[in-house]
Amino acid sequence: MNYIAQTQSDFENLSQAAVNNPDAFWSRYAEENFNWHKKWSTVSNCDLTQGKISWFEGAQLNITENCLDRHAANQPNKTALIWEPNESKEPAIEYSYQELLDQVSKTANMLKEMGVQKGDRICMYLPMVPELAFSVLACARIGAIHSVVFAGFSAQSLADRINDASCKWVITADGGFRGNKITPLKKIADEALAQCDCVEKVLVVQRTQSDIEWNASRDIWWHDQFEKQTTDCPAEIMDAEDKLFILYTSGSTGKPKGMVHSSAGYMVYTTYSFLNVFQCRRDDVYWCTADIGWITGHSYILYGPLSAGATTLMFEGTPSYPDMGKFWEIVEKHKVNIFYTAPTAIRSLATCDLALVNQYDLSSLRVLGTVGEPINEEAWRWYDEHIGKGNCPIVDTWWQTETGGIMISNLAGVTPAIPTMATLPLPGVQLALMDTHNTEINEMEAEGALCIKAAWPGMARTIYGNHQRFVETYYSTYPGYYFTGDGARRDAQGNYRITGRMDDVVIVSGHNLGTAEIEDCIDELPQVIEAAVVGYPHAIKGNAICAYLCAEDLTEKEVKQFVSDRLGPISKPEQVVFVTALPKTRSGKIMRRILRKIAAGETDALGDISTLLNPDCVKDIIQIMA
Ligand code: PRX
Repeated sequence: MNYIAQTQSDFENLSQAAVNNPDAFWSRYAEENFNWHKKWSTVSNCDLTQGKISWFEGAQLNITENCLDRHAANQPNKTALIWEPNESKEPAIEYSYQELLDQVSKTANMLKEMGVQKGDRICMYLPMVPELAFSVLACARIGAIHSVVFAGFSAQSLADRINDASCKWVITADGGFRGNKITPLKKIADEALAQCDCVEKVLVVQRTQSDIEWNASRDIWWHDQFEKQTTDCPAEIMDAEDKLFILYTSGSTGKPKGMVHSSAGYMVYTTYSFLNVFQCRRDDVYWCTADIGWITGHSYILYGPLSAGATTLMFEGTPSYPDMGKFWEIVEKHKVNIFYTAPTAIRSLATCDLALVNQYDLSSLRVLGTVGEPINEEAWRWYDEHIGKGNCPIVDTWWQTETGGIMISNLAGVTPAIPTMATLPLPGVQLALMDTHNTEINEMEAEGALCIKAAWPGMARTIYGNHQRFVETYYSTYPGYYFTGDGARRDAQGNYRITGRMDDVVIVSGHNLGTAEIEDCIDELPQVIEAAVVGYPHAIKGNAICAYLCAEDLTEKEVKQFVSDRLGPISKPEQVVFVTALPKTRSGKIMRRILRKIAAGETDALGDISTLLNPDCVKDIIQIMA
């Protein structure tokens, strides 16, 4: 069987085969498409009621041998990674599979020399430089667990993540170029590390030549250690379920969740989904614009494309520098065939002069993709017409940090795209919609809570250090099902449209933000008596954050700055509204639902507020915001 669907009927056959016998389906795919040191004794051993997930037990492998060595052996000169710098006057760098393997091996040897061992946690707080790719893969090579923290996060967020995973090593850079700005990463890391006793050594990549403080007993320059390393670094043989990485995502409580992914299942699923969804061909140049600090970068800049032997591009800069034509300049320059980005980027690019698009030759493009949030029809049409020129299928890919890989999407050119709909689950993915009584809805046309009812290899295994929270968050609302936290609508043909989060997570510009975390942060300001943070629709960002505060002697600017310093600029509220009281139920619970409606300007749809403890405050808030 060909596991990569090429026709609608392949797709149907695969879907059927995966339902009939999931173990046989995944087992054969895994066996035929990867290198293993030892085969598994059990394909899947999962009990969703307990949040127990295990795939390919007994198997041994190293994911980097699948991402690098096998391609270096078969096609050593094929370009594996293209790195495009922030400034176009700096040359791009291309690494062949052999060269990338050599860089990763040298990095791995450097880490080993520093004393890193299998199972150790290493935190990366790096800009989008090649060293980030090398470090991630080097950890995987020696069995260390990587925890990449997005370089836009604040010192406090970084410290929390380092401490949560007890990372012994941190890899950072003197600074990072982002458009016309330099992010002082080493300075932020220094501030974080003042709170992290677990960290022994800090490896520093020199990128911006910025002036930095140096702690001689702790800090080591990357370049001082790297050049002297050899390129010979045998891969550590890992068990299928050994942890590959931790990646933090926001939850409904203030504390971020360290999602854990393991080796074999993640490798199998990211490769399978990459090839099926994007239909990547041998000589394609594939570009995902995400940051490696997010799951999209892990799965679809690095692991998925590399395991599939593709050419993957990583870009250091931003879509708006030096102007809003940057993405299209890169597409032309590298003759990109497959382009994968976020609706927020599309919406903001769509507001610009079309001349910025039309001055570039985009004829290399064959497939377009979006991820991270629902895409509205207007943005979809713009993307289709002006970027795809009506010739490129758009894949709307729904998935999560927790799912490891794409779960719902059309397959480019194979199954139909429907604007604003993620469409159908990938073969092997079994979805369910649940009603308000927590039972599965059998009718095809329905709306409900989106769940997944059968295990798949790429799913997260636990929350680092807190399996109980994992079970409570994902497996207890609907016993026997994985609950995604999203709501969805299903049409008569079985196509899914994601309607948005059902919990207190707000997706701002494609980033998952927990309102509780922002609330906790604002509450730390001594002038704040009470705060409530909600999301509301925003034309470009998809959603934005509105913070309602009862506070004394505080300005909007101070609140925004405080949140930005503590949690990072992406968490900064768009609006800060000072109110005299927050609407509450008689039991004292803040009615965020009402605040959400007010922020969205839907003041006609507040429903019955007479049962509130303090209905009058609602009128006051509406007036303040008018
Ligand atoms: O609400 C869904 C939204 O993003 C959430 C997952 O966020 P994160 O773990 O950061 O991963 C983002 C990249 C995979 C989901 O629960 N989401 C993601 N993709 C889509 C989407 N919403 C609608 N359509 C999508 N294609």
